[in-house]
Amino acid sequence: MSEKTIAVLTSGGDAPGMNAAIRAVVRAGITSGLNVMGVKRGYNGLLSGKLGEDILGMKLRSVSDIIHRGGTMLYTARSPEFNTPEGVQKAADNCRKLGIDGVVVIGGDGSFRGARDLTGAGIPCIGIPGTIDNDIASSEYTIGFDTAMNTAVEMIDRLRDTTESHDRCSVVEVMGRRCGDLALQTGIAVGATTILVPEVPYDFQEMIIDRMRFTQQAGKKHFIILVAEGVDRDVSEFAREIEAQTGIETRATVLGHVQRGGSPTLRDRVVASEMGYRAVELLTAGKSNRVVVMRDSKIIDLDITEALAMKRTFNKELYDIAHKISI
Ligand code: F6P
Repeated sequence: MSEKTIAVLTSGGDAPGMNAAIRAVVRAGITSGLNVMGVKRGYNGLLSGKLGEDILGMKLRSVSDIIHRGGTMLYTARSPEFNTPEGVQKAADNCRKLGIDGVVVIGGDGSFRGARDLTGAGIPCIGIPGTIDNDIASSEYTIGFDTAMNTAVEMIDRLRDTTESHDRCSVVEVMGRRCGDLALQTGIAVGATTILVPEVPYDFQEMIIDRMRFTQQAGKKHFIILVAEGVDRDVSEFAREIEAQTGIETRATVLGHVQRGGSPTLRDRVVASEMGYRAVELLTAGKSNRVVVMRDSKIIDLDITEALAMKRTFNKELYDIAHKISI
């Protein structure tokens, strides 16, 4: 595939480690004899098609000093225009005009659906899972998850100091969209009394009030209740209800977008680097409509359409363990 051109873009919510993946794609592409272009702001950059403005020629040194940086040097966006048949056609036409023979898309399931559609319009695409949510069924790991968990743990450790000093309860919301993985892992690591996730129905009285009373009788005076954002109730509502029923002063904290920033952890840098390299390998081997995923701790590739049809499983066993020991 010498003298061919590939492009790389990041799409959807940013995630720490995306830069490491971009770096790997650019370096692996160039050292394999390909031209590599960086597309800005996800599929919007392909829709604009402006060379030198939204689509940049990448050199080996274009990706220097980014492996340790959060965010994405190519910027990112969600693109409503691309999500139409006309948008996909326009992006594919622009790729042909620019001589782009293949695209590496770093993002979540929505970005993979775009990659599948663009492949269908004649531009071979390879997906790499990049999202802090860990909500991609086909991959047991997504780039950014480790950093986001560690950031959440650091923030909640700080909250714990003040919660403890005042004998209070803190109800904390973490991100994750409809996926409870971030809440589960973080909740275990901070010793949360209760973890609520969208995958497991809960009874407020039993899961929060009764557990708080039980641990109070065993001498506990401060409490962390961890709530995934996909749970049906607002953390402020939970806080009001807990205070009313227990008499314990309660505060609500939404961690929000701090979880999406910051320098990627070693794990995110390494996984992103390997996935980026594998994506280029697939394109040079003439493959398309594939997604690079982690399964049984190995980096492999799957058909995007099959990957998108997979159903996520939640680690209920670990969830039950968390509640048995945080008492
Ligand atoms: O998918 C990543 C994520 O941070 C989710 O956890 C969250 O629900 C969403 O994106 C927030 O999106 P936005 O950045 O558009 O507010």
